[in-house]
Amino acid sequence: MSSNPDLRAWIAQLPKAELHVHLEGTLEPELSFALAARNGVALGHDTPEALIAAYDFHDLPSFLAIYYRAMDVLVSEQDFHELAFAYLSKARSQNILYCEMLFDPQAHTGRGVAFHTVISGIRRAQVQAAAELGVESQLIMCFLRELSAASAMETLLASLPYKAWIVGVGLDSDEKNNPPIKFAAVFAQARVEGYRLTMHCDVNQQNTLMHIGQCLEVIGVDRIDHGVNALEDAALCTEIARRGIGLTICPVSNRFVVQNLTGEEIRRMLALGMKATINSDDPAYFRAYLNENLNALHEDAGFTAAEITTLVRNGFDVAWLDETRRGHYLALLGASLS
Ligand code: ADE
Ligand code: ZN
Repeated sequence: MSSNPDLRAWIAQLPKAELHVHLEGTLEPELSFALAARNGVALGHDTPEALIAAYDFHDLPSFLAIYYRAMDVLVSEQDFHELAFAYLSKARSQNILYCEMLFDPQAHTGRGVAFHTVISGIRRAQVQAAAELGVESQLIMCFLRELSAASAMETLLASLPYKAWIVGVGLDSDEKNNPPIKFAAVFAQARVEGYRLTMHCDVNQQNTLMHIGQCLEVIGVDRIDHGVNALEDAALCTEIARRGIGLTICPVSNRFVVQNLTGEEIRRMLALGMKATINSDDPAYFRAYLNENLNALHEDAGFTAAEITTLVRNGFDVAWLDETRRGHYLALLGASLS
């Protein structure tokens, strides 16, 4: 399908929210090289272009293997600050005014980097970006689901001194044989601590309908990351729509890991009254930030301006914002449409 430069420009200027972006997935090759040099880490490639050329993933496990290996360059508080500030600057350049950023503390504490180092660098970037760029952001702490529930609980307890800096908890990484129910006690405790709850139900994973069902009936999530396969079960769709649960869909990520932009699925979700939102997931790896995801929906799946408006509005509707801030952003979106 041909591209429409006017629609690209219109998408670029829309005030937007992003609710599903892994901070570690925003690590651009150029920054990797700078941090590798600073920290004496060997990347195994001579140039950022060669590193990108080695991004050879076709499913979730092959992506995750590359994603975790690349994190070795993140060591100091300053490294995490630069990572987060680079993403927030990019967000500002795309007129993303509000973002909820996921991070994976166990991917760092497991390498000997302290929780405090990780979160204080990210937090400093958030405060600076709010003041200097006018981008508001909140943090979602994810547990790695292939690790034990005990390790997740230990991470939850480590986060408590920083509770004011974290809006919610999530579950990501390798879904195979790692169902939501494995973490039921951890998420119940997180709820008691006041965290909002989300979990990844990646596309076309083993037992995905059972996992989505557990998210709803056992965990009581506020949101689901991905969750596209819910469309295979009418009762799940009805319940997700009834509860107003947001689904953070990542079209270009889907094109990499399941070879499908899932445009038709997103359309069906909207038709069923499900709160689908569009997000970038791991934009440095999938080479597409939020605007490029929306452009792809228009250019490769024929999404209209009206459909894109609904998806962008849904992002603010299901964001973990208080009603005053939500109203502020929805008014900005409304003004940009009039
Ligand atoms: N961690 C980073 N990106 C992820 C994804 N798309 N699915 C699961 N875990 C992830
Ligand atoms: Zn994700």
